[in-house]
Amino acid sequence: MITAVKGTQDLFAPEILRWQKLETAARNLFERYGFGEIRTPLLEHTELFVRGIGDETDIVTKEMYTFPDRKGRSLTLRPENTAGVMRALVEHRLCDSSAHSRLYYIGPQFRYERPQKGRYRQFHQIGAEVIGDASPGSDAETIALAADLLSASDILGPVVQLNSVGCPKCRPSYVGLLRGALLERRAELCGDCQRRLEANPLRVLDCKVPSCQPILDEAPRLDEGLCEECHAHHEKVKELLGLLGVSFQLKPRLVRGLDYYVRTVFEITSSALGAQDALLGGGRYDGLLKQIGGPDAPGFGWALGVERLLMAMPPVPEERLGRTYIAWSGEGTYARALSLARDLRARGLAVIMEHSERSFKSSLKRADRLNVRWALLLGEDELKAEKFTLKDLQTGEQEALPAGELAARILNGGAS
Ligand code: HAM
Repeated sequence: MITAVKGTQDLFAPEILRWQKLETAARNLFERYGFGEIRTPLLEHTELFVRGIGDETDIVTKEMYTFPDRKGRSLTLRPENTAGVMRALVEHRLCDSSAHSRLYYIGPQFRYERPQKGRYRQFHQIGAEVIGDASPGSDAETIALAADLLSASDILGPVVQLNSVGCPKCRPSYVGLLRGALLERRAELCGDCQRRLEANPLRVLDCKVPSCQPILDEAPRLDEGLCEECHAHHEKVKELLGLLGVSFQLKPRLVRGLDYYVRTVFEITSSALGAQDALLGGGRYDGLLKQIGGPDAPGFGWALGVERLLMAMPPVPEERLGRTYIAWSGEGTYARALSLARDLRARGLAVIMEHSERSFKSSLKRADRLNVRWALLLGEDELKAEKFTLKDLQTGEQEALPAGELAARILNGGAS
């Protein structure tokens, strides 16, 4: 048997209905915040991610699906969408276009990670990017958008964690300080931290290994190393989040796994998730557009892991689909069922029927298995009387109605 690739998933009903609901809720919310959709290719030139995400990050060093195409060019399945969105804006000269300054995307991303609960090799993100606004208000409003999306999804125990990672002006001196402090206790750090200390010392702060925690707790704090401008920006973001009613926790060791961030970084975690508790993450990335060949324009954004969000959502009682199953049996009923189905569909109803005759009993069983809400019974008697029996499979109630009244009754949700 040929199976799905490890770390990827097939999706079908009823699970897919939750995906569709979430996507619709997200699209509606983005609309309310004035965002437009962007779709970029799943495949990009590898160079984009090396330059955009950073060549020392875990994503670039060990998690990308990278391969040469038939002409030997190095391509990569996108591990995230921010770099691709920026590439598209630069390529189409849209970096200054107000019509393209608030974008959202929904789609698959690929990372070669060790699969576990909440971690996949093909996973899906819903993401938002705001281009061209350097003000702290843009950070706060875009974080509020993320918080709104989570509250619309009834997420259990979401927590916004906030930090500032400074800017190219203040970060180098902080990193020097951090490296110096950690080098003194190098031998006590885990192997990963010892390696990171050389290549990407900030990432050490993010280590989850228990024995590293006391050392990291005593290390110099990022928020104490900020320059005046970064400090003021951070303070303003906090103030505006308060104004918008978004509660948050300060997390001075939050650094995120991508190199493009400056100033604000944030994550939203959920107590309903296990080890992989980050539902959503993002921040400010003012140098990214320039880094990949565009203008020196600021940006802010986040991405949400769809699989994780769905895991953190409370279970909803399974509802019957608002569809109608036409059960027909007897002389002349097939032709009437066919035309009735067509008529009801034209009025906006979802209708299913079979093309070979079966007993009403077997039809009702099938309607039940199809999880539809309505069964419409069409036998010879009904045909003669021109009245059809509409059965609500949710309540068990049934009534006889003329064809002209069926659509309205079903759309109204049942017996009046
Ligand atoms: P990220 O933190 O790498 O950020 O990913 C965002 C979210 O994607 C995570 O919080 C998580 O929910 C989900 N995620 C990541 N990896 C996996 C995985 N292997 N399996 C399941 N879910 C996963 C970014 O991707 C940035 N591009 C976010 C951003 C947008 N920053 C600015 N704009």
